[in-house]
Amino acid sequence: MPAKKGLLHPLVKRLTLTEEDIRWATPISVAEHRAKRLRCKVIADLGCGAGFQAFAFAKQCKKVYAVEKGREKLDRAKENARRLGITNIIFIHGDALDEHVREKVDDSEIIFCDPSRLPEEQSRSMSTIQPDPKQLFNVCQVITKDIAIEFPPQIRTENIPFNGEKEYLSIQGKLNRLTLYCGGLKKNETSVIVLPEQAVLFTTETTKSSLSKPRLVNEQGQFVYDVNPAVTKAGLLAELSEKTGTACLCMGKRTLFTSKNLVESPFFCCTYRVLAVCPSNNDAVISKLQECHAGSVTLRCTIPPEEYWTVRRKYEAQLNGTKRITLFEWDGKALLVEKVA
Ligand SMILES: C[S@@+](CC[C@H](N)C(=O)[O-])C[C@H]1O[C@@H](n2cnc3c(N)ncnc32)[C@H](O)[C@@H]1O
Repeated sequence: MPAKKGLLHPLVKRLTLTEEDIRWATPISVAEHRAKRLRCKVIADLGCGAGFQAFAFAKQCKKVYAVEKGREKLDRAKENARRLGITNIIFIHGDALDEHVREKVDDSEIIFCDPSRLPEEQSRSMSTIQPDPKQLFNVCQVITKDIAIEFPPQIRTENIPFNGEKEYLSIQGKLNRLTLYCGGLKKNETSVIVLPEQAVLFTTETTKSSLSKPRLVNEQGQFVYDVNPAVTKAGLLAELSEKTGTACLCMGKRTLFTSKNLVESPFFCCTYRVLAVCPSNNDAVISKLQECHAGSVTLRCTIPPEEYWTVRRKYEAQLNGTKRITLFEWDGKALLVEKVA
């Protein structure tokens, strides 16, 4: 996932970088989280790019090997390390799959790789990841079984042919990374980490045995919640339900959690108070929106994107209140909610 400039290293202005370096750079919170998790004496970062992840490793590890096949990229990473005053990274120019490179990093306790993906791909697949993960594993396993590799978080996990912990990471409510932790690095089957809160959710024995289904209800309580997309992607809805004492509202494809009393959790992106429920026909919805003193209405219904603003303006033309309401609709039912600050 391309990094936003604001999420990068705080000293980014001092560094020499191209647009491409920035596009693929690891956000500092992600780099620091991974570096803490992979703390050891000697680590190798294969495909280090402009070096953002390697710089975080350098804080936690005694020695870091940073391997990169792009000569100019490696030179920029080297220069940036100098500007940041980092002295414990050994930079190696070469192909991570090359035997000569392998020999140079063979005292690594842990090997990490954040491979290249094609920027213009519609859907992510294993075949376009570079270096090829299977070949990489074969090469790395000669040195250590403790391997961590990043995959595009959208990838279908059945397509990942290695046993490891799948850690889905979210920053500011958005799904950002999937890292696979293999060998002794595997602590759980699947986990979610939410940054900046550093909140962790993982598969437990109870949720594994209850076939990973969250508690389902047909009726909403006083509050409803949007679930962090990393939790949904990781398939940890049952864990979330158990951890927060909330239930999953049966509403077709959309995932909305609900509870009687207000529950605060970093795994919910947005919390709403339920104001009204009515049939999802136009008159009933307008009447309820007016009763709720709505001034604007965000639609969370199955409307074709090109019709969204026409439908929304039609509602809003009949409203003269001040409240910002969100409208969910499913199975002939409309739910009017407002965000809890
Ligand atoms: C996504 S970027 C890494 C970004 C880096 N983690 C950061 O935080 O700045 C992937 C890098 O892997 C490099 N790469 C791809 N295949 C490689 C290979 N076989 N050997 C070495 N480097 C490779 C690419 O040139 C690219 O710079």
